[in-house]
Amino acid sequence: MADFISEWWSTAIAVITGISILACGVLLWSQSKVKVKIGTDGKPLPAETTGHVWDESLMEQNNPLPKWWMWLFYLTIVYSVGYLIVYPGMGSYKGTFAWSQEGAYEKEMKEGEAQYGPLFNQYLNTDVKQVAVDPKAREIGQRLFLNSCAQCHGSDAQGGKGYPNLTDTDWLYGGAPETIKLTLQEGRNGQMPPMGAALGTEDDVKNVANYVLSLSGAAHDPIKAALGKGKFGVCAACHGADGKGNQALGAPNLTDKVWLYGGGIDNIMETINKGRANQMPAHKTILTDAKIHLLTAYVWGMSNSGKTAVTESEATALKQIASTPVAAEVEVVPASK
Ligand code: HEC
Ligand code: HEC
Repeated sequence: MADFISEWWSTAIAVITGISILACGVLLWSQSKVKVKIGTDGKPLPAETTGHVWDESLMEQNNPLPKWWMWLFYLTIVYSVGYLIVYPGMGSYKGTFAWSQEGAYEKEMKEGEAQYGPLFNQYLNTDVKQVAVDPKAREIGQRLFLNSCAQCHGSDAQGGKGYPNLTDTDWLYGGAPETIKLTLQEGRNGQMPPMGAALGTEDDVKNVANYVLSLSGAAHDPIKAALGKGKFGVCAACHGADGKGNQALGAPNLTDKVWLYGGGIDNIMETINKGRANQMPAHKTILTDAKIHLLTAYVWGMSNSGKTAVTESEATALKQIASTPVAAEVEVVPASK
């Protein structure tokens, strides 16, 4: 066992285990020597008592254990010895079956891969957009999503504070199939440094926050926003001069009404003052290529099912997918187009 720093621990544990089992055996053997005493008339004598008496006449007797009971105990000892020969338990000794937790896990994973691999792999060479309209593939994609992604993005994929909504058409990093796939494979790490000091006073922060609100037409103080506009230059490096964001940096578009951290003035000021650091974990080592392909299609499909021009048959397929909230609005174009 690699967890042991030296063989000493392994040996010590093996010795302690051995002694414990032996001690149990000795204890049993010593106890089995207590016999029922037989009187001269051939009948068992009344059992000895320990001398403890309760409630006037209730006495604790010292009877030997029944034989069958004793043998059960011996059996457990034999069993434990057999167990420790075939399974790991004596220090670092691996057991004749060479069983291990990791081995069992890997075997299960391999069996799973053999059973389900072909199911996933059949889509690997199909274009993402086509996989996205395959009802069976979407069903698989949804299961994978529930297993691997829902804990952060929600089972409806609509996200939450800090976790982007994947069903809309607003993207931090871009919504093209290749970009989504890259996000899943490599992960993402959105970083906005604290900008309060760069802006100046808390009033400056408030002014810029009002300017940010004005960009999306949200309720704001126009005078403060006008004052903040001049300071937005330090933000433009990432969010663009027009505030429309930069997908290469994952800097969000500030002119729409989609907010990763909430659209209130307090949230915006908090972002400016404290900055943000957000991480989407890389999945290339966790999920197979085929699973990532299916998930890419599932995610792409969710945000595109509402507006992509699809053929009539694709539209029918999309409408069958109950989990697609916007499926009813699918735009249908003639198949010949
Ligand atoms: C541990 C939480 C977590 C898990 C698990 C997770 N994500 Fe994410 N994901 C995030 C966060 C946080 C972001 C935003 C990163 C940022 O702001 O830079 C993100 C971003 C994304 C984006 C980019 C969105 C955009 O607007 O560009 C996509 C696509 C995405 N996740 C899909 C998935 C899929 C599919 C899975 C399952 C394989 C998944 N995520 C699993 C936390 C998670
Ligand atoms: C170095 C690049 C950079 C600069 C400079 C920067 N930002 Fe950001 N900003 C980002 C990134 C990246 C995110 C997304 C963080 C995340 O993924 O969690 C972000 C997020 C935000 C958000 C949250 C948006 C939402 O949807 O909730 C606001 C608001 C914001 N920035 C405003 C500003 C303002 C105002 C300034 C100037 C004072 C500024 N940023 C300067 C990179 C930057």
